[in-house]
Amino acid sequence: MNTSLKFDDSSITVAVVGCGGFIGSHLLKAILERTRWRVFGVDLDSYRIQEHLSNPRFDFLSADLACPDVVERVARFPIVVNLAAICTPGRYMAEAVEVIRSNYDHPRALADACAKSGSWLIHFSTSEIYGRTAIDSASLEEDSTPIVFGPVSASRWSYATAKLLTERYLAGLADLNWTVVRPFNFVGPYMDFMPGIDGEGIPRVLANFSTALVRGETLKLVNGGVAKRCFTSVHDAIDFIFCLFAHADAGVGQAFNVGNADNEVSVAELACLMRSICASIKDVPEGDVPGVEVVSGEDYYGKGYDDSLRRLPSVAKAESLLGFKAKISLKDALEESLRWFVGHYAL
Ligand SMILES: NC(=O)c1ccc[n+]([C@@H]2O[C@H](COP(=O)([O-])OP(=O)(O)OC[C@H]3O[C@@H](n4cnc5c(N)ncnc54)[C@H](O)[C@@H]3O)[C@@H](O)[C@H]2O)c1
Repeated sequence: MNTSLKFDDSSITVAVVGCGGFIGSHLLKAILERTRWRVFGVDLDSYRIQEHLSNPRFDFLSADLACPDVVERVARFPIVVNLAAICTPGRYMAEAVEVIRSNYDHPRALADACAKSGSWLIHFSTSEIYGRTAIDSASLEEDSTPIVFGPVSASRWSYATAKLLTERYLAGLADLNWTVVRPFNFVGPYMDFMPGIDGEGIPRVLANFSTALVRGETLKLVNGGVAKRCFTSVHDAIDFIFCLFAHADAGVGQAFNVGNADNEVSVAELACLMRSICASIKDVPEGDVPGVEVVSGEDYYGKGYDDSLRRLPSVAKAESLLGFKAKISLKDALEESLRWFVGHYAL
């Protein structure tokens, strides 16, 4: 691998698949602003990246990664970041087969093509590959934590098992230069959608609570909101990718947790924090913002729901190999996200 990717080298082009998504749109913006590189972007959707479509350093292909010719085109570039996936929990049960195709079949074809062409594939996996963790589980280590999943009857695990198999496939391909990124609940502007406005179904928890707050509806605490997560600003996530670009030699052949272990909070505490931030944004007493309501996972998401109760990343590997540490506090990350949501949907 090239050990020194120079940000001022205008001969470099990065392919970003899923460049129109939440993380992809932030990554695209950062590459165009912080480097002189070109970007070849692929997505089914482009509403988040309208401002970049006329940038001469950005070529956008509106296409499906399921198409073999798209895979071949992408793999011609020396660096390929794959963010394309179906990744909202509401779809894991109802569309399990599509979820598996998206999170295993498509990345596998891309990995085969990158192995042939010699491209460096930076693949976005998930912290869900750690499976059904207990409420008191220790921090999750990339290369040593054992993994337990729920039963096949709980289709909730369709996404996580497909992602895990992809990781195993990448690690097994002898000729592939790969890096795996395991995000821990990234939050920020443009995360997911507001149901009925720019998407359908159930978005991830932050967009879900933001929607309820904007619409004046109760915040639904699935199974009491006891599960804990480490919410991590998308800006920290983008900084991680730049650390990886800058230390390509140390990152190849490695999987990295990307999360902020200092930002751990239960989902019930998250609801509380978001209610209080919402009250301060609207300058109203907290009693005037919607309350919370406990619902069962099966009632809310449907049959086959299951969950992991704690996801605390060990962040030592990213720090020691790449010099990366997340810096943005939970409060700042949530406040930015909610302010953006309220302003964007302007209801
Ligand atoms: N955001 C998080 O906290 C988080 C957590 C865990 C894992 N991840 C992983 O990170 C990656 C990006 O997540 P995100 O939050 O930006 O999701 P996102 O849904 O906002 O973005 C994914 C993008 O991929 C595109 N896409 C999906 N299938 C495609 C296909 N077949 N061809 C072309 N484009 C396609 C979608 O249109 C979308 O714009 C995903 O692989 C996801 O599993 C994210």
